[in-house]
Amino acid sequence: MMSYREPGTPLSCRFFYPGGAHPATVARMNGFARRLVNLRTISRADRVLREVLPSLNLPTEARVLELGMGRGGLVALVSERLRPALYVGTDFDPDQVRAAREFISARFGSIPAPIALGQADARELPFKDRAFDCVFALMALHHVEPHHGEFARQPAAVREVRRVLRPGGWLVYKEFSKGGRLRRSLEDLGFGRVALHPHFRTETGVYRTSLDEGNAVR
Ligand SMILES: C[S@@+](CC[C@H](N)C(=O)[O-])C[C@H]1O[C@@H](n2cnc3c(N)ncnc32)[C@H](O)[C@@H]1O
Repeated sequence: MMSYREPGTPLSCRFFYPGGAHPATVARMNGFARRLVNLRTISRADRVLREVLPSLNLPTEARVLELGMGRGGLVALVSERLRPALYVGTDFDPDQVRAAREFISARFGSIPAPIALGQADARELPFKDRAFDCVFALMALHHVEPHHGEFARQPAAVREVRRVLRPGGWLVYKEFSKGGRLRRSLEDLGFGRVALHPHFRTETGVYRTSLDEGNAVR
């Protein structure tokens, strides 16, 4: 198992994940990295939502899943603006789940009924096939890799997203662009592109599974 301390691991990864890779999947961010990421949870979520809302057409009573929610900025904004019937916010790191619970409780007075927050690994989601209308993943998918430059494990996470989406379900992501590897992986799995917003090193994508074929890909 690769450790973040191994030679050849980018310095940024060794700094942010000093404990080495998690035995099961990935390392937990250190306290500094977490604070840095969590500080801008609302502004990042707001920017992405403004970008994607014109192309996102969720049903009323939507069932939404978020992967790697961090402190929960998107949990808050989607709940306030789109009022889904269910918003399941997940993160692999229990410290992040705790941070999200505190943040959402402080913002709403308690955790409102449509919101459920818990721990889950993006590569092995504890949900039934076709359980959701929409999956959000903001700067979360690259975290399933040993370091930011790799793309060995993301297809497994993408397959899980595909599995838990109903036919015609939506994926909204923000990620490092990395030559379009994520886009290719999505398209290989039958996702259709609805919108793409390129930025300097990142991109925001809105993709949709086919309404016709069902969710056959495993
Ligand atoms: C860069 S942060 C982004 C947090 C949040 N989406 C935001 O934009 O503020 C990436 C998050 O992914 C989580 N993460 C790491 N590995 C994961 C995995 N295997 N499955 C799900 N989430 C994971 C981290 O704990 C972290 O909270």
